[in-house]
Amino acid sequence: METKTVIETEELTKIYNTQVAVDHLSFSVKQGEIFGFLGPNGAGKTTTLLMLLGLTEPSSGKVRVMDLEPVRNPIEVKRMIGYLPENMGFYRDLNARQMLKFVADLNRLPMAVAGERIEDALKEVGLTEETDKKIGVYSRGMRQRLGIAELLIKDPEIAFLDEPTLGLDPAATNRMIELIQNVSGEKKMTIILSSHFLHQAQKICNRIGIMIKGQMVAQGPMDRLAEEKLGIGAKEYTLEEVYMKYFMEE
Ligand SMILES: Nc1ncnc2c1ncn2[C@@H]1O[C@H](COP(=O)(O)OP(=O)(O)OP(=O)(O)O)[C@@H](O)[C@H]1O
Ligand SMILES: [Mg+2]
Repeated sequence: METKTVIETEELTKIYNTQVAVDHLSFSVKQGEIFGFLGPNGAGKTTTLLMLLGLTEPSSGKVRVMDLEPVRNPIEVKRMIGYLPENMGFYRDLNARQMLKFVADLNRLPMAVAGERIEDALKEVGLTEETDKKIGVYSRGMRQRLGIAELLIKDPEIAFLDEPTLGLDPAATNRMIELIQNVSGEKKMTIILSSHFLHQAQKICNRIGIMIKGQMVAQGPMDRLAEEKLGIGAKEYTLEEVYMKYFMEE
């Protein structure tokens, strides 16, 4: 059976004033994939995610999320996507449990379901002991984990994770990677993961896209790209080697 395409862009372009942030970008992501969205600072990754979410309007080109156009169907698209942004904005005066309740209400979860899911999520991300604190005094890693807990509450079909392990300690990083693999495997969530930590991306991604200066210079299964760039039979490669090859060519 053909796997469904859940995200598709065609010649997608975003120009801020005179700055071309995303330049005729065409790529697709299939259901259930963990798609590694890689590229240097300023390549246009976050801008692309914002267009997929309908949070910023494309200058030209097409974008489809589950066959919907984000700017025309803002509510439906936002309902389907969980977004862990680069810089999380939280309601600083709430504690973690109150915050998750708020998210549950926004997503119209019935009260009976919400209570259990909130406790499960807090446990899953290791924040159960920290729920009396206001989010305003949370450390960066704690905020990051709370972001994942929000995702578990919402339980969307698609998740955009923009640098999910940035600022996490080593144990929390491993836990985060495990969590991402779990939601992908058990919940069949489609995940777009943007990261500069290539060894982590290599562990969990099925396919990757490398974006440089607003363009996707490569996309496909990691092994295939490695083979193309490092020669046939390259079984022992690191994603970093593959990435650097593309990067040096630009
Ligand atoms: N609101 C904005 N107004 C003007 N320029 C912007 C705006 N947002 C992004 N840009 C520019 O667009 C380009 C792409 O930025 P973007 O944040 O998408 O990169 P990125 O790939 O996410 O980088 P990083 O890896 O550092 O997060 C950059 O040159 C940036 O300065
Ligand atoms: Mg970014």
